[in-house]
Amino acid sequence: MREFLIAGNWKMNGSIAASEELAAGIVAGMPEGGGFRVLVCPPFPYLAAVSRQLEGSAVALGAQNVSAHKAGAHTGETSPSMLKDVGCEFVIVGHSERRAMYGETSVQVATKFQAAQANGLTPILCVGETLQEREAGTTESVINEQLDAVLDAAGVVAFAAAVIAYEPVWAIGTGKTATPDQAQDVHRHIRARLAEEDSALAESVQILYGGSMKSENASGLLAMPDIDGGLIGGASLQASDFLAIAGAAAQG
Ligand code: PGA
Repeated sequence: MREFLIAGNWKMNGSIAASEELAAGIVAGMPEGGGFRVLVCPPFPYLAAVSRQLEGSAVALGAQNVSAHKAGAHTGETSPSMLKDVGCEFVIVGHSERRAMYGETSVQVATKFQAAQANGLTPILCVGETLQEREAGTTESVINEQLDAVLDAAGVVAFAAAVIAYEPVWAIGTGKTATPDQAQDVHRHIRARLAEEDSALAESVQILYGGSMKSENASGLLAMPDIDGGLIGGASLQASDFLAIAGAAAQG
């Protein structure tokens, strides 16, 4: 049985005080029950402060990006061991904003994925198509290219210690959510692609949905057989909104 994972991607928002308040609010309002985990991914400068707020709670800490390098002359970068040191368990790799605005290629994303795992972090690999690609009927081939870069570099076994997030680019921050059926179709495709390599492992991999997920649509999405949680941007910035989504997972 796969657990749900409800992950907040705070992106480049907040301050120390706001991050501490948000983390404390999430810890205080965590739904009862099992079968789900909750994770927050604050901006780098606030990881340490949030880590302290989360101590002793069931809420996990993650980062939004990571360097593929270990140490040394990489001005402005943050290594996987630094993230581990500050208390991160997870790290997002290949978010579409990094691919589109910072030119990260699927091959670079794969090296970050491997560097994260080599340091005991669980990578959350983001994949997803643009509206243009969807309209051109290339959704599956776009996703295959993004997945295959990691499969080629790390092999399917690496997915035993990783999470995938399907995030249609046209749904991110737009208020346009994929319907549960639209999302399920792609989630099924992702699982089937992994199953070509290892069917038992494919069954165990958590595949999150991301893109304007909020309390109003969370239950419908989480009810789909291949949707195992959410990567939530906008609705993760208010404890009550985020906790409502965690609550949907707790009931699911
Ligand atoms: P959104 O962002 O929930 O604001 O659409 C999701 C994401 O980019 O991870």
